[in-house]
Amino acid sequence: MELSQAIQNRRSVRAFRAEPIACDQLKALILEAAIWAPSGGNAQTWRFGLITRPDLIGKIKMISPGVLGQPAAVIAICQDMEEVRRKGSDLAVNVLSWMDTAMAAQNLMLAAHAAGIGTCAIASFHAKAVQKILGLPERIVPQLLVSLGYPSQSPQPPSRQTEVLWLNEYTESGS
Ligand SMILES: Cc1cc2nc3c(=O)[nH]c(=O)nc-3n(C[C@H](O)[C@H](O)[C@H](O)COP(=O)(O)O)c2cc1C
Repeated sequence: MELSQAIQNRRSVRAFRAEPIACDQLKALILEAAIWAPSGGNAQTWRFGLITRPDLIGKIKMISPGVLGQPAAVIAICQDMEEVRRKGSDLAVNVLSWMDTAMAAQNLMLAAHAAGIGTCAIASFHAKAVQKILGLPERIVPQLLVSLGYPSQSPQPPSRQTEVLWLNEYTESGS
């Protein structure tokens, strides 16, 4: 799949077929796509929880209004906050770790789309509850969930604003 095609045709998928995804394929999305994202200061303090057990996914859904449909898997993109603090400053805690998580998520979602797997990024969840459900130590903090599954529908692309750029010195868009 062409890169531009993957970027433009990836959609947030919120309805999935009841079909599992091979665990090796899910692991490959993490190890062959997510961890190759840029990382501020090359800190690589991200940690990835791969959740495939239906009982755990069910519990996560109960405390995550943002998780829609019945995904075959959920990847919890976390940061080891002790390592973040050790390697960085407040900037790493408040900004860089979040940016790293977002970039890893985008790599993962594009690779999944190219493999025919639908995904949705989810920020609407209760991080402390996810820590409890998954038995995470306090230092491992979930920043973003990604739900995954084979799509059961093809969502229409939401419209994109195009008056969002300027060339060189600032001018209001459209002027
Ligand atoms: C940081 C972030 C958080 C999001 N959180 C949720 C969420 O909690 N639940 C959800 O259904 N979609 C969530 N989305 C998906 C957006 O709603 C979606 O990307 C947007 O509507 C554009 O649609 P598209 O991804 O199909 O292009 C999130 C996206 C991002 C980038």
